[in-house]
Amino acid sequence: MEIIPLIQKVIEHLENTAQHDIRFYIETKDILFLGDRLKIEQAFSNLLSNSIKYSPDGGRIIVRLYSRNDMLSIDIQDEGLGIPKESLPRLFQEFYRVDNSDCKRIGGTGLELAIVDES
Ligand SMILES: Nc1ncnc2c1ncn2[C@@H]1O[C@H](COP(=O)(O)OP(=O)(O)O)[C@@H](O)[C@H]1O
Ligand SMILES: [Mg+2]
Repeated sequence: MEIIPLIQKVIEHLENTAQHDIRFYIETKDILFLGDRLKIEQAFSNLLSNSIKYSPDGGRIIVRLYSRNDMLSIDIQDEGLGIPKESLPRLFQEFYRVDNSDCKRIGGTGLELAIVDES
């Protein structure tokens, strides 16, 4: 499947609901990707909506698609609350949420990244 239009579609959809400036940089020629289209779309959508949700003051979100060691990789960078280093190993566990007041105020289930991981 063509990965670029899929990511563009997710970005366009989310741009309509947020005031964030989302930039998409394509740094690879490998644009074909094998996988379940709906699951991949869901995964991008979860990651990007986290970037929007956890940057309550808006800002720029940078999405970078590149290939390395035969793998297609994607980086998503936002200017929001950030993720404490000690939370990183647990981020994809079910129901895990960063335990600080800024994050708690925003609210959520802690399930989306677990779904991303399963996809
Ligand atoms: N872009 C981000 N910036 C800051 N924290 C994040 C970001 N994405 C995820 N997190 C943290 O990871 C936790 C798990 O994310 P997720 O599974 O999507 O659950 P939810 O958004 O429902 O809380 C979030 O509660 C939040 O603490
Ligand atoms: Mg989330």
